[in-house]
Amino acid sequence: VAAVVGGGAAGALAGYAGRGVLDDDKTVDWKTVADSRVVGSATEPFHGDRQSGVTTAPQSHAAFVAFDIVPGATRTEVQGVLRAWSQDAARLTQGHGGLADLEPELAEDPARLTVTIGLGPGFFDAVGMPDRKPDWLEQLPAFPQIDQLEDRWSEGDLLLQICADDPLIVSHAARILASGVRGVAQQKWSQRGFRKAVGTDPSGRTQRNLFGQIDGTVNPTEDEVDFDQILYSDGADQRWMRGGSALVLRRIRMTMDTWEEIDRTSRELSVGRTLDTGAPLTGTAEHDPADFEAVDEVGLPVIPPESHIARARQRDRGEAMLRRPYNYDDPPEAGEISNTGLLFTAYMADPVRTYIPVQQRLAEQDALNTWTIPIGSAVFAIPPGAPEGGYVGQQLFE
Ligand code: HEM
Repeated sequence: VAAVVGGGAAGALAGYAGRGVLDDDKTVDWKTVADSRVVGSATEPFHGDRQSGVTTAPQSHAAFVAFDIVPGATRTEVQGVLRAWSQDAARLTQGHGGLADLEPELAEDPARLTVTIGLGPGFFDAVGMPDRKPDWLEQLPAFPQIDQLEDRWSEGDLLLQICADDPLIVSHAARILASGVRGVAQQKWSQRGFRKAVGTDPSGRTQRNLFGQIDGTVNPTEDEVDFDQILYSDGADQRWMRGGSALVLRRIRMTMDTWEEIDRTSRELSVGRTLDTGAPLTGTAEHDPADFEAVDEVGLPVIPPESHIARARQRDRGEAMLRRPYNYDDPPEAGEISNTGLLFTAYMADPVRTYIPVQQRLAEQDALNTWTIPIGSAVFAIPPGAPEGGYVGQQLFE
């Protein structure tokens, strides 16, 4: 089966339409996708009006690495971090070693590497520019009904989101970028996640999380007229943020043992979708629209009002967000057999308008809460992209 690149092969590889470039020719034979050179040589741009890694078709592997700015660091030094990251990211994403790279061979075959830089709420005080902080850039309010947040997974002044279709590329990029900034930015936490390996499911179906659910179905798409408006700032709040976005990252533990104690029907009712196709309980195919008004023969709603999708679905377009989740499966604590969950990531122009009301509803009532526990939380501004020769965040300092 041959697929055409450009809304075709690269998108199908990763789950939805993307702009990845596979080799020079315009088609790829699925039988050869397992060939690491085909996947490895694909690149995503670093420079541009917008940063890559937001609407980029999700790569298979991700690292989210947060840093705090060391007390006493100067604005010039912090600008130096953003400049160094941008210079190295521009090279690494195109398959070249970083500027001070002792293992440049590890940068070959970048496998659609993207490096996305974020600024946390504390960044602006640290550089003495509190007036330039977007109004919405604050940590989320506490959700005491559900939160069991741990400092080791939360907050941060700076973020690197590093994604690629190859875990070796992610590790190398994370090492290169993190090691060059010691003394100015100190690493606070690092979280790794994964989705289905590239090429394993060329059907275009959405990936699954570790509960077995198809996760990521209802998402804005690039062909919708308000796609840009949902994701990107128009600069009205902060002019320098025009073309920038926001990331909410929640680390959510999924308690597999208790999830597996309930029967399949109950598991499907908790989300409002079937486990096999991911269709809403009122439909047959994954992308069928959910009918929240439908009732069964005894008059009960087919999709329970306390199900995850009934609670999470947008009440108006201002609540639309782009979810780009990664699974995690880390070494278990002593006596446990698993330590799994979701690195829930969502992008939007304004999290106060978009994210908080949805999260509030879910905190108040969501059948999934029985098996999910938020243990980490962070919010970052994702500045606009860097022009050729420039660096991410430079508009802030102009
Ligand atoms: C939908 C799982 C956390 C927002 C879904 C779906 C699944 C799912 C299986 C249905 C398929 C889809 O449209 O993707 C989970 C799991 C979570 C989690 C396992 C935690 C471990 C969250 C959080 C939010 C959220 C924290 C936001 C505050 C949404 C939204 C939808 C959705 C907006 C689409 C609803 C619709 O319009 O149908 N989630 N989710 N989810 N989820 Fe979650």
